[in-house]
Amino acid sequence: MTTETTTRQENKEARKHLIASNDLTRAEIDALIKQANAFLPYVQKKTENQKPRDLLAGKTILTLFAENSTRTKISFELAAKLLGATVINFDATTSSLKKGESLDDTIENLIAMGIDAIVLRHKSAGIHHQLVQRFGEQVCMINAGDGAHDHPTQGLLDCFTMHQVLDTLHDKKVVIVGDILHSRVARSNLHLLNCYGAKVHFVGPPPLMPKEITEVIPGGCLVHEQLSEALPNADIVMALRIQTERQESNSIASLADYSAMYRLTHQHLKQWCKPTVKLMHPGPVNRGVEVSTALIDDPAISLVLQQVTNGVAMRMAVLLRCLTE
Ligand code: NCD
Repeated sequence: MTTETTTRQENKEARKHLIASNDLTRAEIDALIKQANAFLPYVQKKTENQKPRDLLAGKTILTLFAENSTRTKISFELAAKLLGATVINFDATTSSLKKGESLDDTIENLIAMGIDAIVLRHKSAGIHHQLVQRFGEQVCMINAGDGAHDHPTQGLLDCFTMHQVLDTLHDKKVVIVGDILHSRVARSNLHLLNCYGAKVHFVGPPPLMPKEITEVIPGGCLVHEQLSEALPNADIVMALRIQTERQESNSIASLADYSAMYRLTHQHLKQWCKPTVKLMHPGPVNRGVEVSTALIDDPAISLVLQQVTNGVAMRMAVLLRCLTE
């Protein structure tokens, strides 16, 4: 018996989790993108050949979203169902969490019912890590967003989408516009894009930019205050929503003031970016605030719905990796 086999057998109850974007190596990201790409025709209903239906048969996956969600929650549910898993959607608003039961006690009870994986969105940064310390051998934990900290599957689906439109990400310029301070999407993208040698630029109002950006967001990036400084020669421009629910005090004067300076339009992209530039947005979009309606709806430039479709395929890849490897 090899040492590796012995270790695996001794730790046979250890589970695989997806907690943080920077836990992933370049090889692991590549493998997830490859798997997501293989699942994509199935999500798009373009093939009858690939039938991944029973890859997760017998597994029970619970989604617990203690913060609001449309795309992430539904795409995880759909991904799990496409792989043949049983899915339970925990309703935090009608659960005993509202009667004062702790999250730890809730999870202990869910494990006692035989749940194999928990897809958790929660306002507390780092909560998945704490939960893995306690429950990591009994249940597989997947981060669907923890406060302003991380959103690894969004970063992965964004990276997957960029790979579809660019031959390589190496040296490509990705400009992320808006509320960087409160954006878990910006943090996740930065780590993954750094793995591929892309050049990441952040632009937004100074109150919405982390003060010590390299401490708050480790990794290489350049920071700007004006769109005119950030956008020249961009390959990808990603707009973010102003996360009003996370603002402690009024960090910006008003959404109208924000829009006046940072609302992306065709004109901005035409004036400064590469002719092949693409627009991305994780959603939800506040039309007319961070981006014009004409731009977000322009199928020649906007990848927003492609990102959503890719999200299902990427979450299939993530669930498969966590529950079977
Ligand atoms: C993002 C999130 O929740 O972090 N949305 C998403 O998951 N698609 C961004 C946001 O809420 O603005």
